[in-house]
Amino acid sequence: MIELSHIGKVYGGAARVEALKDISLSVKEGEIYGIIGQSGAGKSTLIRCINMLEAPTSGTVTVNGVELTKLKDKELREECKNIGMIFQHFNLLSSRTVYENVAFPLELQGYSKKEIKERILPILDIVKLSNRLDNYPSQLSGGQKQRVGIARALATNPKVLLCDEATSALDPQTTQSILDLLKDVNKKMGLTIVIITHEMQVVKDICDHVAVIEGGKIIEQGRVVDVFTNPKEQTTREFVGSVISHDLPDEVKAHMDLHDAWDEGTKPVVRLAFMGGSTKEPVIAGVIRRFGIEVTILFGGVDFIQEASFGHLIIALDGEKEQVRKALTYLEELQIRSEVIGYATI
Ligand SMILES: Nc1ncnc2c1ncn2[C@@H]1O[C@H](COP(=O)(O)OP(=O)(O)O)[C@@H](O)[C@H]1O
Ligand SMILES: [Mg+2]
Repeated sequence: MIELSHIGKVYGGAARVEALKDISLSVKEGEIYGIIGQSGAGKSTLIRCINMLEAPTSGTVTVNGVELTKLKDKELREECKNIGMIFQHFNLLSSRTVYENVAFPLELQGYSKKEIKERILPILDIVKLSNRLDNYPSQLSGGQKQRVGIARALATNPKVLLCDEATSALDPQTTQSILDLLKDVNKKMGLTIVIITHEMQVVKDICDHVAVIEGGKIIEQGRVVDVFTNPKEQTTREFVGSVISHDLPDEVKAHMDLHDAWDEGTKPVVRLAFMGGSTKEPVIAGVIRRFGIEVTILFGGVDFIQEASFGHLIIALDGEKEQVRKALTYLEELQIRSEVIGYATI
């Protein structure tokens, strides 16, 4: 549905900024795709390239089978009616009521008053604002304002919805209700959604795929479950760590002296990750039985990513070095993720 191919963006002027570097990504129809990065990473620039609010300096943007980067103004405006957008600060017109804000894009497209009414009343119902039609933005809460933003974006019946930090100005509870609403319209209307955020919780709650952007580059991308269970880059680990405890908590770490090398008197500390139905009992028992070594459980827990559950366990292996080595090889060969995170003197 959305294909970005080798996108580059350089902001000109005296202070030349290379905001995007060789970005390629592909979003399938009906998917919710998250793009996460720190402030200044290039997220807004990237999402604005999808609807050509910002023209990329190089590369191609294809949405719904049409290459937007080669269209002229008029054709481009026509194609971009298929792409709605919502913003962190809502961007509502303060002198217009809820109804008039949502009607605005349709007025611009020349729809009659009757057509507008027929189209937007059901949408205002979906976003639960039917009883607020005559309110002005200043009379609404943040969550309600974003609901107006969503209704306005949906009014033109787009195929794609772009969300630039749409929940970043909202409290956690309101964020949840907006995410539920986005998930709802994604399911009911088959809308493809791209979400830009700096909050991993947003990705964890509703995205199918995620790309991590840093310094204008995508450093990691994949299915949300894969990235969460097996983050490869340090930045990704930090984002994942903000919602899921992948590493040993500092309190546990403080009690051991973690080395990078398997020095004399240290024991390997291994992180195991299990998807879905957990098999950790037989794994641990198997290691003990097969290799005659001791296993100490240091930390563990179960997390949920949308419907999928995954458990993680951090263990230390102790025993004769050769047997411990064999146990590590055995763990590597199993259908679970295992990784030595250091060597501790516990
Ligand atoms: N209109 C602009 N002119 C010049 N530089 C810009 C402009 N917009 C963004 N930038 C720069 O591009 C980089 C990426 O910005 P942005 O896409 O807004 O990041 P994010 O949304 O991830 O915070 C930053 O270094 C920012 O200063
Ligand atoms: Mg931004």
